[in-house]
Parts: sequence; C-alpha cells; structure tokens
Amino acid sequence: MHLSKRSLQIQPSATMKTSAQAKQMIADGIDVINLGIGEPDFETPRVIEDAAINAINTGKASFYTPAAGLMPLRQAVADTTNTAYGLDLTATNVAVTTGAKMALYATFQTILDPGDEVLLPDPYWVSYSEQIKLADGVSVPVATGETFKVTPAQLDEKLTAKTRALVLNSPQNPTGVIYDKAELIALKAWADANDVIVVTDDIYGKLTYNGATFTSIAQLDDHLSDNLIVINGASKTYSMTGWRMGYVIAPDSVIKQLSALLSHATGNPTAVSQYAFLAALQGDQSAVEKMHDAFEERLNTIYPLANALPGFNMAVKPQGAFYLFPDISEALKLTGIQSTAEFVARILDEAHVALVDGNAFGVDNHLRISYATDLASLKKAVDRLSKFMNQNIQ
Ligand SMILES: Cc1ncc(COP(=O)(O)O)c(C=O)c1O
Repeated sequence: MHLSKRSLQIQPSATMKTSAQAKQMIADGIDVINLGIGEPDFETPRVIEDAAINAINTGKASFYTPAAGLMPLRQAVADTTNTAYGLDLTATNVAVTTGAKMALYATFQTILDPGDEVLLPDPYWVSYSEQIKLADGVSVPVATGETFKVTPAQLDEKLTAKTRALVLNSPQNPTGVIYDKAELIALKAWADANDVIVVTDDIYGKLTYNGATFTSIAQLDDHLSDNLIVINGASKTYSMTGWRMGYVIAPDSVIKQLSALLSHATGNPTAVSQYAFLAALQGDQSAVEKMHDAFEERLNTIYPLANALPGFNMAVKPQGAFYLFPDISEALKLTGIQSTAEFVARILDEAHVALVDGNAFGVDNHLRISYATDLASLKKAVDRLSKFMNQNIQ
C-alpha cells in the first residue's frame, strides 16, 4: 500500500526501539539488564490506583470528557503549578493530554507553520525533532559543548527570520543538567528580544538531587508570559508512565486552539487516568519523596562506578532526571570499535546490557544510561560493562 511521505520521514523512537529489543531478548530467556528506557521501575502508588478503581466502580470512567480534560483536573494542575511556580494560572491555561508526548505533539501542531524553525539545544530528547517534522517545521540543533546548556550567544548563531521557538528541557534528558536562575533570565531576555516562543519541558522538575534546585523559566515572572508554553506530566513524578497523563500550560488563546486540535485527535485523554492523576495531584506526596530518594541513592552509587569504567567520562555529575550521559570517545579508541552504534549493539549482544546511542539525542560518542532501575541490577550492569571493556581493550 502507498505510504505517505510524512510517515516515511519519521524514525521510530530510538529509546523505545532499544527497549523493545531488550524486552524481546528477555522474553527469549536472555538475562538482559534494560537501562535503555526512561521509565521509573516503581508501581504507581496504591492511593492513585485506588482512585482509578473507585472511578470505575462509581461509573465515572465510562464517558467522554471535555477534550482538554476534566475541569477539576485542569484546575488542580493550575493550582499545583501556581503553588510551585508562583503564577496566577486558571483552568483555562491548562489542557490535559495523553502523556507529555501528546502535549508536545499538539503544541508543535498548534504553533508551527511550514518551514518554521525550532531551536533544539543538543543533546535533546528523541521525540522533539520527529514531532517538529510532523508539524512541517524544521529542527535546528544548537551545539552546547561540554556544559550541555545553551547560551544566548549560541542561540544567536542559529537565529533566522524563520525561528519560531526554542525548546528547553531542565532537568534534562539525557544529561541530567539543570539550568540555574541566572542562565534562565538570560535565555528569557533573549527569547523576548527575538520574539521566540519558549517551550519548556519541565517533566523532570521534581527529580533533582543532592541539594540541587529546579527553577522553571516560567517562574521568572508573576504571570505566564505570552511567549511561554510549559509541558509537564505524571509519568516521571508519580511513576505513571502507563496511564498517559500530561499537560500543556499556555495563554488561553493557545489552549483554546490546541484543545480544538485535540478534540479531533484523541477526543479526550482517557477518563480513568484523569481521575487517577487528580488523586495524584491532590493526595499525600510521601510516595513521590520515597521514589525521589531512591533515585538519588542510585545516582550517588552508580555515577562514580560508571565514571570509573575505562574510557567512560562524565566531567559533571548529573543533578536531576534519571540518566547518565558519559562521553565514550576514549572507550571507542581503547577497544577499536568503530562507532557508538556498534558499541551499543555489542554491549547488548555480549554484555546483555541495553543502553541508548547518544546519536538518538543528536550527540555522537555518548551513551545514555538510565538509572530508573533497582540498585542491584545497576551494580550488576556496571560489572558487565567493566568485564566487556576489559575483554575488548586492545
Ligand atoms: C524530556 C521528556 N519529555 C517528555 C517525555 C514524555 O513523557 P510522557 O509522554 O510519558 O508523559 C519524556 C519521556 O521520556 C521525556 O524524557
């Protein structure tokens, strides 16, 4: 059958592909440790699951909801964000979506015209560039160098008359770096001066470690700026990846148009998940703290071990999210392996550890290691990597 040019230009998500491959190997009886996917390993907290069961038992989950989500949930998102960011949002500033992925997809569909350019500081999350393509936009990677954080001077070099938006992600997937307030003030001034929309993906905002704090670019003013869109969701904070709950925060006019688009795409986000997410936002947050503390312990354990692997280099310790992004240029030289892709494939085949090639995030000679798995498996994975390196160093 004929396949559209639009569909043919899309690459499957590299992280999901690696993970699917690892899951297949596990299903085939191979003892693979999957550090490929950005998915918390905890079961969704019981109170959240119970709220969903209650919504089913009381018949509330059976029906369509408004396209942008249930009003009480939109209000709860506005309230939580107002408390965290010091804003004065109302429910009409919020659209609830089928995961943050859909929040981003709908955002690009809503703000981009064909040929509009979107600046993506590299490394950047895999789906941004594909979603921009699907909106007929053009991704413009911006090299950030060793800090992994973009500066106004670097953005200036890529600015054209067609620049429509800049995507910021802090804490960042895949590096775990966090922009500080002074850096954000400079970026906001740059965006305002150049009439560029900032799409800030704050999905890892609750996952910061060892005293590091997160500031969103949306927090710099008392009101949401006209050129700002915030993306967030339930997946990472509440370990709710399977429930597919995300949201967009934007000026009313953007939310109105984006909701019209969603009404023809998803219809509405799944009702039962909305009741679960409402309970997550309004309930006791102790489960979130517990998961956070587990991630912090994993980072503090795994970072020095991974950094000590021959040829693995992480100059800066990650401060947030749940990934390591070592530079493996030296490891490639030591082993004589020709490319990052081959390195990742051989580690999966020979050491049975699933990792992601940094090229999926726009940066060569790096690997993404997710530490969203238990400590024992993480230590075992590092042992396997160490053995792999020792066997292959020439
Ligand atoms: C940076 C970033 N944004 C958005 C998402 C999407 O999350 P979800 O669609 O599960 O809400 C992810 C998931 O990996 C992510 O890493």
